Amino acid sequence: MVSHVSKSFQRRGESSEVVNDASLTVEANELVSIVGPSGCGKSTLLRIIAGLVSASSGTVTVGGTDSKDSLHELVLVFQEYERSLCPWRSAIGNVRLGLEGLRLSRAEREERADAALASVGLQEFAEHYPWELSGGMQQRLQIARALAFQPSILLMDEPFGALDALTRYDLEDELLRLWRARSGMSIVLVTHDIDEAIYLSDRVLVVSSRPASVLAEFTVDVPRPRDQVTSRNSSEFQRLRAEIVQLIGRTSNSAAGHGADHR
Ligand SMILES: Nc1ncnc2c1ncn2[C@@H]1O[C@H](COP(=O)(O)OP(=O)(O)OP(=O)(O)O)[C@@H](O)[C@H]1O
Ligand SMILES: [Mg+2]
Repeated sequence: MVSHVSKSFQRRGESSEVVNDASLTVEANELVSIVGPSGCGKSTLLRIIAGLVSASSGTVTVGGTDSKDSLHELVLVFQEYERSLCPWRSAIGNVRLGLEGLRLSRAEREERADAALASVGLQEFAEHYPWELSGGMQQRLQIARALAFQPSILLMDEPFGALDALTRYDLEDELLRLWRARSGMSIVLVTHDIDEAIYLSDRVLVVSSRPASVLAEFTVDVPRPRDQVTSRNSSEFQRLRAEIVQLIGRTSNSAAGHGADHR
C-alpha cells in the first residue's frame, strides 16, 4: 500500500528529510501499529497515507489504485482531539459534519450519524458540545465521526495519547470491539506506547528515528479476543515487548550518537 515513500520539507531554503523510503502494506481486516521515537515522522507518514500531505517520492495505493482516487476509503483520527472537533457544533453535529461531502440523502446522513454516535455509547450526549464532554468522550466522538464515514481504512494518530491509563484501556477495548463489528475495515494506528501497539495489533511496525523508515515488523501471536490482564501477561506479549523495546533503544541511541536530531 505504501511503497518507497519519502518526504522532505523545505524551510528557509533548507531541505530536511522526515520520511525516508518507507514501505508498508496493510491487508483488509488487519490492525497494524506503527511505533517509533518521538518526532521521527510518524504523523507525517500517516498524513501522507491520508492524502493530506503529498509525498516527495513514492506511491500510496489502496486496493491497487492511487490513494488520491480513493480518499473516500480513508479517514484520519488526529492526535489532538481538542483541536479536531468543531467547537460550535454539538456532538451529533460534529458527526454529521464529516458526512457533508458525501452524496447521501439527509435521512441517510442522519441515520448513519446516529448509528455511529450510538456505537461509541454517546447517544445521550448528542446535543452536548465538545467542551461539555470529557477527554475520553471527545476522543470517542472523533472515532464516531470517522466510523460514520464507513472507511475501509481507519488511520489513527496517537488516538489515546492524551488520556489517563484507565480511560485508555477502555477505549482500546472499545476500538477492538468496533473493529470486529465492521468486517473488512483495516486500522493503521500510530502510537509511542509499545504495550498498546502489541495489545491492539496483528502486526507492529517499528520505525527508525528521523527520517522515518520501517526498521522491523513483528507479528503478534497473542490470541483474540484479548483482554487487558491475560493478554498483557502472556509470555508472547512479554517477549515481543522486550524485543521491541531493545530495538527502539538501539535506534534512538544511534540517532543521538550521530546528532541526527536537529531540533
Ligand atoms: N509541515 C511541515 N513543515 C516542516 N516541517 C515539518 C512539517 N510537518 C512536520 N515537520 C517536521 O517533521 C518532523 C516529524 O514530525 P512528525 O509530526 O511527523 O513526527 P512524529 O513522529 O509524529 O512526532 P510525535 O511522536 O511527537 O507525534 C518534525 O521534526 C517536524 O518538525
Ligand atoms: Mg505525531
